[in-house]
Amino acid sequence: MDVYRHPDFDRHAEVSFITDEASGLKAIVARHRIWDSPSVGGCRMRDYASEDEALADVLRLSRGMTYKSIMAGLDYGGAKAVILGVPVPERRAALFRAMGRAVQRFRGGFRTGVDVGLTPADVEVMKTETRFVAGTGAMAPAEATAHGVHEAIKASLAWRLYADELRGHRLALQGLGKVGRRLAELLLAEGAFVVAADVDTAAAEAARQELGIEIVAPETIHAQVAEVFSPCALGGAVSDASLGEIRAQVIAGSANNQLAEARHGRLLAERGILYAPDYIANAGGLIAVAADLEDKPEDWIWQKLRGLGPSLTRVFEQAETLGLPTAAAADRLAEGLIAEVAQGERSAA
Ligand code: NAI
Repeated sequence: MDVYRHPDFDRHAEVSFITDEASGLKAIVARHRIWDSPSVGGCRMRDYASEDEALADVLRLSRGMTYKSIMAGLDYGGAKAVILGVPVPERRAALFRAMGRAVQRFRGGFRTGVDVGLTPADVEVMKTETRFVAGTGAMAPAEATAHGVHEAIKASLAWRLYADELRGHRLALQGLGKVGRRLAELLLAEGAFVVAADVDTAAAEAARQELGIEIVAPETIHAQVAEVFSPCALGGAVSDASLGEIRAQVIAGSANNQLAEARHGRLLAERGILYAPDYIANAGGLIAVAADLEDKPEDWIWQKLRGLGPSLTRVFEQAETLGLPTAAAADRLAEGLIAEVAQGERSAA
């Protein structure tokens, strides 16, 4: 396994390989950039097919956190933790205590919280060993993420269709989990039509009954006739397989890594589909975590969430001016801000 020469290494400041034999814990903590503030990013746990897959995942996600943080006006270096392998239930508490001790050894330089594969109960177990886990503050991360995506959809519709309200627009929602379900409620409250899909048929049926939304088969959701396609399930919603079938004019959702590959951003632009870069649209969760870390009140969260729409509009302007896909324009803006923070020219906080 190459680390320094890994294609996703991107000059990571620190990559730590953690083992705890007693509990069976194997984890990798990656800190993409280390500035004066802590490095921040969630902890995920998966049955990775290989150690290489886990390393690629942690490096990509940790780098993404730097971009997400800077574009949300926060000055955290990005970080991420991945736990390799899901333990049997009776070993789970011991494993998360060991992970809590590992987090504590960073003495606050790395702060983490819940991500895919963890439950709030796991975070509570980690908290018995460290105070450097967050996400139980003034607003739940998924709630803040749904509001942030809502802001992103409004800004994207305004840019692409000159629409100043959601009323009467049709949105296709992929995934009705913590974020997607809440987002559906927010959209319906503004008079939008929502069509949705979830591979979890119980979640889909519950949303149909309780929210009165239309449910379609998961493999057709991206191809619905709708102004907006909102990926709120897993990554890779825009791929060679789906791209030609997408009929929406806007793509804005919460999933990380929505473009299967960077070239899909260019292909979307060529087809006139406006893509709201994922790490801006879904920054609400990080904003909620930041509020918890820094003891900020709910007002602060709302102010930051309302900043996501204008931040996207700046990206759309830059993309138009430079003739770039929106994802590339976002990266360029973020990289400029990251360079400034790295040189100590400004504090983004
Ligand atoms: P979740 O796990 O609660 O919900 C995801 C839902 O997507 C589940 O109901 C699942 O059954 C469904 N799903 C999976 N594959 C699907 C497919 N092919 N078609 C349709 N539905 C499918 O996750 P959550 O918290 O709602 O997050 C959604 C996405 O947003 C994830 O990609 C997550 O990484 C991302 N995200 C979440 C944040 C948060 O604060 N929860 C913050 C930033 C990003």
